Amino acid sequence: MIFIDACFGKETKRTPIWMMRQAGRCLPEYREVRKKVGGFIDMTKNSDVVCEVTLQPVDRFDVDAAILFSDILNLPMEMGLNLRFEAGVGPIFDNTISSIEDIEKLVPASEKLSYVYEGVTKIREKLDKDKALIGFAGSPWTIATYMVEGRGSKQYPKIKRMVYANPKTLHKLLALNTAETIGYLKNQIKAGANAVMVFDSWGGALEKDKFFEFSWNYMKEIASSIKKEYPEIPVILFSKGVGLYLEDMVEGDFDVIGIDWNTPIEYATKIVDNKKTIQGNMDPTRLYSKDATKEAVLHIANTMKDKRHIFNLGHGILPDTDWENVKYFVDLVKEVTAK
Ligand code: CP3
Repeated sequence: MIFIDACFGKETKRTPIWMMRQAGRCLPEYREVRKKVGGFIDMTKNSDVVCEVTLQPVDRFDVDAAILFSDILNLPMEMGLNLRFEAGVGPIFDNTISSIEDIEKLVPASEKLSYVYEGVTKIREKLDKDKALIGFAGSPWTIATYMVEGRGSKQYPKIKRMVYANPKTLHKLLALNTAETIGYLKNQIKAGANAVMVFDSWGGALEKDKFFEFSWNYMKEIASSIKKEYPEIPVILFSKGVGLYLEDMVEGDFDVIGIDWNTPIEYATKIVDNKKTIQGNMDPTRLYSKDATKEAVLHIANTMKDKRHIFNLGHGILPDTDWENVKYFVDLVKEVTAK
């Protein structure tokens, strides 16, 4: 699997490519299944649907890795929070966490997510043997932002009040999320995942010291625990909005570091210095134009030539992206990085 080789910095015939949020709404075949099944959460609970939707972008774009179709919020949902998705708003938890008592009411969840593990096993059975299956979870901090705020947020007033006024309560929640996430990811590996990724979409809400204290250190703890038990499974850590903190993020027991498009890749590769594989970082909105895509692909490929790299976007693909441009992007990356 060239994806796995690249995670470990081994020589590959070209740079592997996949895209964050590749399974989803830019694909007509996804929208078709979504219409048939109904709700998004119901889709994630049906392992046959999970398998089908995970494989759709692999079949259409011939990317080097599949990412499990699920959501970072399934874990906190199974810990006892009521999750729903509202059109135009996004995810909403009706019951939120604001105290130690609320945290004590949460229940162990990793065993309740068997529909995810069944999906993983089904995907691995059907997926081409040269392609990797990536399992994932949200970072303890990023899922905590939803558990405390109750929904997506711009300012994070409730959880940042905890950061500064009630850090002990927040650390208790983060420690619990970390333990649950470790169990969850290990079960995904047991079910057949070839690599795991931790998504910290909202790490950038925190100033530097607080980012390490409340997010990155917990992510590294997850990575260490997985690497200790499964040294052959690559661990990918991705925090968005923290490019200026990169210098202090290179050490740790993980294999791949994801970077967003605000982190110039020439800067990232200088700092990371081939100690980890860099994953990223084209702005997904470049996919609105083939010319803009080509410009970025050439720049990134040129900068990362002979360096440890996995091609990806700097964040998830947007729903209104033209899939023909996505196909162009994938084919172009394969062509220009071929050795
Ligand atoms: O293709 C893939 O990457 C695999 C599946 C995946 C989904 N969500 C499916 C999904 C993954 C890896 C995620 C991660 C996720 N979910 C993150 C971290 C990565 C990121 O993009 O920042 C976050 C913050 C979430 C939370 C979430 N889930 C939000 C805010 C939303 C609503 C906004 C949106 O993008 O639709 C979701 C819903 C969601 N998750 C959909 C999909 C395909 C859309 C559901 C639909 O309407 O069909």
